[in-house]
Amino acid sequence: MQETVTVQEVAQQLQQEHAELHHLFEEAAQASDLAQMSGFLASLHHRLTAHFNAEERPGGLYDTLGFCAPEFRRPLGQLVDDHFRLAATARNLRERARAVGGVDTDALRVDIARLVRAVAEHENRELEMVRQATGRAPTPARTPAAG
Ligand SMILES: [Fe+2]
Ligand SMILES: [Fe+2]
Repeated sequence: MQETVTVQEVAQQLQQEHAELHHLFEEAAQASDLAQMSGFLASLHHRLTAHFNAEERPGGLYDTLGFCAPEFRRPLGQLVDDHFRLAATARNLRERARAVGGVDTDALRVDIARLVRAVAEHENRELEMVRQATGRAPTPARTPAAG
């Protein structure tokens, strides 16, 4: 029972952080110029990697889920692989936005949207595991309106 409460608490925090990340994604995608977009992408990369680190740290979500259900360990390994790939993509976008001259902001927006979809798909798999661990859907966090 104690484990279930812990997973639910961690899950609520998780959904709040996911909502905040998506808010930053929207700001980056809607930025009016490259300088603004670059700032949002730098912030996004920082927040995204901090979020991934928090999920992976001892006592964090993945540790708690793996402890609750040993059969989760394989899919959790896939989620950790996702983190590596998604963080690399976010870093690449940040670097492209920082490059001086010749940067196509429309192409960056397309690639930001692609990263948003990949992150959302990753989050869905995380939340599905939390649902399975808790036996019921966690309380949805507020999510910003889609842009
Ligand atoms: Fe994650
Ligand atoms: Fe997450």
